Amino acid sequence: MQQIHIDFLNGKNAYRRQHGGGRKQMLAKAVGIKSGYLPTVVDATAGLGGDSYVLASLGCSVVMLERSPIIAKLLEDGLRRLKSDPLGKDLCLDLVYGDTKDYLTNLSMVNHPDVIYLDPMYPHQKKSALAKKEMRILREVVGADEDAAALLEIALCYAKKRVVVKRARLAPELGEIKPNLVFTGQSSRFDVYFTAL
Ligand SMILES: C[S@@+](CC[C@H](N)C(=O)[O-])C[C@H]1O[C@@H](n2cnc3c(N)ncnc32)[C@H](O)[C@@H]1O
Repeated sequence: MQQIHIDFLNGKNAYRRQHGGGRKQMLAKAVGIKSGYLPTVVDATAGLGGDSYVLASLGCSVVMLERSPIIAKLLEDGLRRLKSDPLGKDLCLDLVYGDTKDYLTNLSMVNHPDVIYLDPMYPHQKKSALAKKEMRILREVVGADEDAAALLEIALCYAKKRVVVKRARLAPELGEIKPNLVFTGQSSRFDVYFTAL
């Protein structure tokens, strides 16, 4: 049986923190990090927490939302170990277990985040795009996020500045909603929707 656990301090997460490109990496640009500006972020689809951890390590305040009870338990465990380490104890990274659609619709106005980040499991993701072991297991546990387009529509009402959607490079836009800005990489891209127009 295959096993996964979340280790923010070692392995892939440590590599991304050290060699991911800092504020120059696409994810940082997509959420709008600039010198002197670090947005508050709701990661609406936390998964294994890798993207959240990058953003928190860059100085953003991040709330991770995860609705799968199994994945949320893994995140809780990884977060506990991270926060008990000198490297993680000052990070602004929190976890909420539940569906982001409920979380956002119950959020008071003062707590609306600057940015809402979405990286949903794509229903027809090709095997090659899921090649990494962790992502394959994640898909087996959570299945496809069929309601991702509905999540985007809600997110657009609650982000103060922007919503960022991670997609496979050639995937259609989520919900066929055209972004205002696109950052394209080798295998993925970030579609950015400005909400403070
Ligand atoms: C592709 S994974 C995200 C991977 C993540 N960006 C990372 O760095 O590991 C998508 C995750 O979002 C979660 N998810 C999808 N829709 C959600 C929702 N409406 N509320 C909470 N979690 C959701 C799924 O359970 C799954 O664990």
